[in-house]
Amino acid sequence: MMLASKIQRRAFSATARDLSKVAVLGASGGIGQPLSLLMKLNPRVTDLALYDIRGGPGVAADLSHINTKSTVTGYDPTPTGLAAAVKGAEVVLIPAGVPRKPGMTRDDLFNTNASIVRDLAKAVAESAPEAKVLIISNPVNSTVPICAEVFKARGVYNPKTLFGVTTLDVVRASRFVSEVKKTDPADENITVVGGHSGVTIVPLFSQSKHPDLTSNADIVKRVQFGGDEVVQAKDGAGSATLSMAMAGARMAESVLRAVQGEKGVVEPAFVDSPLYKDQGIDFFSSKVELGPEGVAKIHPIGQVDANEQKLLDACLVDLKKNIEKGVSFVASNP
Ligand code: NAI
Repeated sequence: MMLASKIQRRAFSATARDLSKVAVLGASGGIGQPLSLLMKLNPRVTDLALYDIRGGPGVAADLSHINTKSTVTGYDPTPTGLAAAVKGAEVVLIPAGVPRKPGMTRDDLFNTNASIVRDLAKAVAESAPEAKVLIISNPVNSTVPICAEVFKARGVYNPKTLFGVTTLDVVRASRFVSEVKKTDPADENITVVGGHSGVTIVPLFSQSKHPDLTSNADIVKRVQFGGDEVVQAKDGAGSATLSMAMAGARMAESVLRAVQGEKGVVEPAFVDSPLYKDQGIDFFSSKVELGPEGVAKIHPIGQVDANEQKLLDACLVDLKKNIEKGVSFVASNP
């Protein structure tokens, strides 16, 4: 037994990429801080690089006292700071940008966040073109295409390594269903497809243990607009940060598990997807199987019922506009 496990361990360490640097851009924000904390606690991470336009080194100094193995370095926006933060990173997490206030949609953030994500994407394209880039900054439906356009313009676009983080939608769906059905959320695996805002978020309850929920308009709406509950409760102080940090950390962990050789890791993500390209929609969120190079396989939507088809139809209309908005932003503001 002991010998077998030793051999297994040796075989694993020969193939696994053991050095995993993770960079967080926007690290001193509401999401950035708890997300960085969770990354510091993750034993797969060997180097943690924390960048922000203000406060990166402070957050880094604080986290660096936690007695896990990884080193933590903070970076300011000096001429070389951002490049040094991302250089050599396996995963770059981007939660930089402004969050919503009550009454705002995610699209209302576009004017501020589009240029923030564009500029960070330029730095990643130059200094870490091979990194897996996980975009959290909203509106994700537009910021992911923005990042893609920046990479394309520099000849480094790899559709397998760019992800819009939609994990929070499935986290919320599983929790909300468990509240209605009085079950353990750990057992509620709800597929959510589409995009990451309002009606572009499409839960597929017909594929879950509770197909009856597809006709329950309240829970469908709660999954689509759950973020608003947090925005309203925070009353001007921002949107989801702690649950988002958990969701972002789960996504980063899944990417690292796949990088380090684990098979069968599946997460939802908003990626360059073949599913609706024939309708002019280049990005779509569905279940994605992850591999060492990033996206390994994009799962089809599967069977949907008539209620869900209506939701999908509405989703595609908005999603197309959101994607086009991102693409044309980079065309006119390169
Ligand atoms: P926040 O305002 O608390 O933090 C944002 C951080 O970004 C700040 O520390 C700020 O200094 C930094 N920042 C701004 N411009 C930067 C730049 N050019 N380079 C580096 N850092 C920069 O906001 P919060 O609550 O952390 O939200 C961040 C973003 O995440 C928002 O756009 C929000 O809408 C989005 N979000 C996404 C979710 C998702 O499911 N994908 C869920 C919740 C929020």
